[in-house]
Amino acid sequence: MINQIERYLEEVKTFTTKDLKEVEAFRIKFLSKKGILNQLFAEFKNVPNNEKRIYGQKINLLKQAATEKVKQLKEKLENAVEENASELDLTRPGYPVEIGSRHPISIVKNQIIDIFKHIGFNVSEGPEIEDDWHNFTALNLPEYHPARDMQDTFFLQKNPDWLLRTHTSSVQTRYMEAHKPPIRTISPGRVYRNEDISARSHCIFHQVEGLYIDKGVSFADLKQTLLYFTKEMFGKSKIRLRPSYFPFTEPSAEVDIYWGLKTETDYRITKGTGWLEIMGAGMVDPNVLKNMEIDPGVYTGFAFGMGIERIAMLLYQIPDIRMFYENDMRFLSQFKPVV
Ligand code: PHE
Repeated sequence: MINQIERYLEEVKTFTTKDLKEVEAFRIKFLSKKGILNQLFAEFKNVPNNEKRIYGQKINLLKQAATEKVKQLKEKLENAVEENASELDLTRPGYPVEIGSRHPISIVKNQIIDIFKHIGFNVSEGPEIEDDWHNFTALNLPEYHPARDMQDTFFLQKNPDWLLRTHTSSVQTRYMEAHKPPIRTISPGRVYRNEDISARSHCIFHQVEGLYIDKGVSFADLKQTLLYFTKEMFGKSKIRLRPSYFPFTEPSAEVDIYWGLKTETDYRITKGTGWLEIMGAGMVDPNVLKNMEIDPGVYTGFAFGMGIERIAMLLYQIPDIRMFYENDMRFLSQFKPVV
């Protein structure tokens, strides 16, 4: 008798099927009124006393196993029916997906890159955490040089040799270390200055700086390049260069474009002069070339740098620089989606 129950137990354990009907047949065979288990329970009274305990335990085990097996197989097969592809409604519309748009800073940055690519400039990038050498010293700004105050620097607390770059001129130093002239590169990127945040200035902003070094590069080349840029970027063809000072260029200039005085806004943004300052520029100082092991007797070059936010504010008439960093969808969605 006990052996017979063991065989049933084995049968229950190994039983499996993918057909619900077979599960039902299995249930009837073991668990129905006239099923094996009821027969075994009925047999109990004929079992010799000394075997009753073990017999009782075995049939209870068998009942548990059979009940559990039926439950498991049913659940598995019924769920499989629900997951069946034929139950899917493929005609249902999908969830609405909003199409994003490029950030205005990226739009303007890409526009500037495109314009300079056409005249043979490549794009270079560098780290935002810089060392003193690449951001200052190599650019003719040695320690204690008063012009360092022009760029309120965030230093890294633990090591004052490390800082957040204050301009992307640091990328140009890296580029000059790694490449021999001729060099024609523009360096877009994010920069940091410890300035009070207001509608006009922020402690984080973006720049594009350009560098051109070759034999016989002159100030006239600089002016012509900037004129080409302002025509392409703003559709304006009148610029002027005012003498200025940067430690890394000599001579240096501020570049203004003639914006015009057609509308009230023109009056406001140009303070009634019609002229707008858009960037700094100049001839690369011979000291910078020497620091980079480029012979200033053979090579000359020019450099320029502009703030992307300032240009985006002009082009899109954005009144407050803080709007760029607030991630307000009502602001961002106004810029053309990417096509
Ligand atoms: N690096 C300067 C700045 O951050 C801009 C500049 C670049 C000026 C190159 C002259 C030449 O303001």
